Amino acid sequence: MKVLVLNGPNLNMLGKRPKEHYGTKTLEEINDLMVKEEPFDYDFFQSNCEGRIVTKIQEAVLKDYDAIIINPGAYTHTSVAIHDALEMFSGIKIEVHLSAVDDREDFRKINFVRDVCDMTFSGKKEESYLEAVRYLKNK
Ligand code: DQA
Repeated sequence: MKVLVLNGPNLNMLGKRPKEHYGTKTLEEINDLMVKEEPFDYDFFQSNCEGRIVTKIQEAVLKDYDAIIINPGAYTHTSVAIHDALEMFSGIKIEVHLSAVDDREDFRKINFVRDVCDMTFSGKKEESYLEAVRYLKNK
């Protein structure tokens, strides 16, 4: 299975972000845990720029990726462009968050990606990503 794993802004800083929400693992450590959980053919990509994330999703539409696991970070709550790009992708789409986005500030309850994703895993820190991998494994 060819899987694009997309992480948005500030997720490159995991390890330095508030631990009560995001845990202690770096993004690299989380990527390694995903590989250990299931050795899919992953393409890992992180960017702090909305347009670069949109372009990467477009590439996944044009190439034959089977699934996208995406943590859009703060763009979850703002990005119509990421919503529209994900809408074009016909494979499996999984939204992931380390923190419990629905139980935090009101502005995090606004979500532009959920309705174009097949599944959401959130609130379990790095385990949310592993739940996404297990979901794909069972598909
Ligand atoms: C996040 C939640 C977002 O609200 C926040 O802006 C992030 C990370 C998460 O993984 O919990 O940067 O997507």
